[in-house]
Amino acid sequence: QSKLRARSDMEVFVGAFVHSTEENPIVILPGMVMGVLNTKIEFMESIEELDHLKAEYGFTDSNIHYMTPGQFMMPGLVDTHIHASQFPNNGVAMDLPLLEWLQTYTFPTEANFSDTLFAREVYSKVVERLLRNGTTTAAYFGTIHLEGSKILADVVHDKGQRALIGKVNMMRNCPEYYRELSVQESIRDTEEFIRYVKTIQSPLVQPIVTPRFAPTCPEDQLASLGQLAAKYGCHIQSHLGETQPECNWVKELFPWAKSYTDVYDSMRLLSEKSVMAHCIWLGDDEIYTLRERGVGVSHCPNSNLSIRSGLCDVRRLISHGLKVGLGTDCSGGYSASMLDAIRQSLQVSNVLALERDQDYQRLTYKEAFRLATLGGAKVLNMEDRIGNFEIDKEFDALLIDVTAPGSAIDIFSKDTIEDKIQKFIYTGDDRNIARVYVAGHRILDLHNRNIH
Ligand code: GUN
Ligand code: FE
Repeated sequence: QSKLRARSDMEVFVGAFVHSTEENPIVILPGMVMGVLNTKIEFMESIEELDHLKAEYGFTDSNIHYMTPGQFMMPGLVDTHIHASQFPNNGVAMDLPLLEWLQTYTFPTEANFSDTLFAREVYSKVVERLLRNGTTTAAYFGTIHLEGSKILADVVHDKGQRALIGKVNMMRNCPEYYRELSVQESIRDTEEFIRYVKTIQSPLVQPIVTPRFAPTCPEDQLASLGQLAAKYGCHIQSHLGETQPECNWVKELFPWAKSYTDVYDSMRLLSEKSVMAHCIWLGDDEIYTLRERGVGVSHCPNSNLSIRSGLCDVRRLISHGLKVGLGTDCSGGYSASMLDAIRQSLQVSNVLALERDQDYQRLTYKEAFRLATLGGAKVLNMEDRIGNFEIDKEFDALLIDVTAPGSAIDIFSKDTIEDKIQKFIYTGDDRNIARVYVAGHRILDLHNRNIH
């Protein structure tokens, strides 16, 4: 009985699909029919099988969405590193380098999130902005505040996004008005936060242990956070090797450590559920350690250029076998859009190619597309659930319309489906994202601008 009801609820999409696999950065599948049942992809077959699938699954034309020639479906975008609490500064305050930028602009802004009304105001806008831009999964930094971070988890849950939510930990080298006062307090609040997020009981929203970075966290705090993450089986996120002054400072602060990476490794903060942002200034030994521990790297090209941290050679990281995804790193980066992250990753790679010898392997637009989808899913250790359109994965997807009214994409009659996809990647924006699905639920529809 229940199976029959579920079958009549099946949503079916007919048209072109594009996604990435292990073997191919972009696979284009025109003329396909996909069935989504509850949260998951049930089947994906050639359009010729439509009648036979109707009979087998018992769905009718009323369950089918026929895409137009200007439309295609792609996996939801995965933002592996974003500071929800820095959105008030998006597009301002990029004149100082990282360490001065933190003290002058970022810590004072984050301190405002002791005000829970302000937290709700900002976080609601952040999650809506990301969903409109097709980010179906995000790894968020909140602030040190317990109540504010709970609000971020609530807002994400209410709006239906998939996310890892971090309450930030920091207690030195930051203002007295914006720091945790003791390791005990830090761990107690973080444990309460973890428990709170678990009480939401959503498979979409999970806590992530978030030591800001080594300079703001003494050894005993880092070690306790490593234990806490192990106790709850949590993800972990932080910053690593973002700027040269930061790396030199870490050497002074942790004179016993073999490297910056070794600081985190010694504190048991590196696992296949760890995400390290930036990773620009790393030695080969550090890359080996990250690889051995299964750590994912969040490449944040907009931020790395905007506050001039460096040019991250992601080709080097990828060829050493690291998992790499893309992050917007707002507000170090000024754009909340993962399409922007894709483009900036390509431009950084182009600049590196100009600097290096002729056979430097630039990133291709196809690879950048994979970094933003399947790559991100791997970095967040979620590739068994999301990242592409494999059968049985959760349906996190975007319906793209390159011919949407007012769109910035120029489409002509001779354009192929591959042209349309590439033009979307380079010149598309939220106006072309007609629908957003997370775990099979349509949570945004451009036609009524609704976030459900
Ligand atoms: N390193 C420590 N904190 C931060 C932050 O908020 N943004 C960036 N980009 N780097 C950091
Ligand atoms: Fe960051």
